[in-house]
Amino acid sequence: MKNVIEQLKKKREKKQQESKHYISKEQIKATAKENNRIIKQMEKQNNRKNVDESEYITQMRNPNNVVEFDNLHAYFYTDAGVVKAVDGVSFDVPKRSIVGVVGESGCGKSVTSLALMKLMAQPTGQIAKGEIRYNAKDGKAYNIAKVPREDMNKIRGKEMAMIFQEPMTSLNPVFRIGEQLDEVLFLHFPGISKEEAKQKSIAMLKTVNIAMPESIYSRYPHELSGGMRQRVMIAMALLCDPNLIIADEPTTALDVTIQAQILDLLRNIKNDINGSIMLITHDLGVIAEMADYVVVMYAGRIIEKGTVREIFKNPVHPYTVGLQKSIPALSSGEEKLYTIPGTVPNPINLPDYCYFRDRCEKRFGKCNGAYPETVQISPTHFAACYLVDEMKTEIKEKLKEVDKNAKKQQRKN
Ligand SMILES: Nc1ncnc2c1ncn2[C@@H]1O[C@H](COP(=O)(O)OP(=O)(O)OP(=O)(O)O)[C@@H](O)[C@H]1O
Ligand code: SF4
Ligand SMILES: [Mg+2]
Repeated sequence: MKNVIEQLKKKREKKQQESKHYISKEQIKATAKENNRIIKQMEKQNNRKNVDESEYITQMRNPNNVVEFDNLHAYFYTDAGVVKAVDGVSFDVPKRSIVGVVGESGCGKSVTSLALMKLMAQPTGQIAKGEIRYNAKDGKAYNIAKVPREDMNKIRGKEMAMIFQEPMTSLNPVFRIGEQLDEVLFLHFPGISKEEAKQKSIAMLKTVNIAMPESIYSRYPHELSGGMRQRVMIAMALLCDPNLIIADEPTTALDVTIQAQILDLLRNIKNDINGSIMLITHDLGVIAEMADYVVVMYAGRIIEKGTVREIFKNPVHPYTVGLQKSIPALSSGEEKLYTIPGTVPNPINLPDYCYFRDRCEKRFGKCNGAYPETVQISPTHFAACYLVDEMKTEIKEKLKEVDKNAKKQQRKN
């Protein structure tokens, strides 16, 4: 009996060791040791005090951008290995624009925005490489990746505001709405009186179209509907007078009518604050309606980016095409909604070829090679796919046609 158990144990161990995802105790120990060393080093940098500004002041590549992500690598150093949540992401958020970031769950949308705010889970989450250049209201450009935590607190509050999917997680359930709004003003405008803060908070509730703002001011978060809570979150964000609003799935938890109202509100707000919005969503419909530029992410990388017209009229990457096919359309007559087969690769163990290859219906010989380079299709349109070279002539023709139609439309208008 003992022998049989021993044999079974050995068989199981052998099977585990043969498995690609098996990590032995020794490996976990070694990884944890190495990761602790890296984290310690990075945290030492993050926690430095009285650092001279010159260490993190930089220059924007283009002064018309609010943010420039430049080869951003944002990793989580876990005991199971390094989670490459964001692995070499570059894109710009131009002033007074809405940039939509889209991609399926786990592709690194939220981590990209958290890296910008320097709010990744500490201490495992770190910016491992690359720059995030931020064009501040004071005219200076900051390389956020190098800004120590102490100084980041000053930049973050005055410049950026974040709106999350579920407002209940950001609102404190034990304080009234008014108290939470006033608190923001006390932080941003030291010396403001209680009465002034109250009046400002109520005015902001009016701005975000909340009926009976005086009454809402005295209520607790649980006494409000989901849509009202999201409006309160937007009011809170606006009280900081931000340059940039990061909205991470701001309407996912809301029904379609309220969703449309919140999106309208965000659009108006962008004009009011004369700032930019980074809109994160997995919903391409929302992006089509709202964004000027679109960034499509897949497994921590950008696989395609361009103007909203380029991404919707002329998508090149099979993943972007697949995402668009999976939007429900009444006119298509299809009974079953398209879904992209397969799953995203494990971010700890990414392949050395195109991350989408195993799910791609268009893969061909070249796709067995290294991860494809990002290729420029137009001044604003880029894609990382071997198909681009094959399709270049076809794409150019298509683009010409799109341009011609747009000009025709302009002349008509
Ligand atoms: N604190 C953490 N520790 C380890 N891994 C993390 C942590 N936070 C996020 N990740 C991993 O980083 C990757 C990117 O996560 P992220 O939250 O950015 O995805 P997302 O695109 O926002 O997805 P969703 O649409 O579901 O919100 C995922 O693989 C996720 O598991
Ligand atoms: S590189 Fe090849 S496998 Fe990857 S998305 Fe393009 S066609 Fe598909
Ligand atoms: Mg997310």
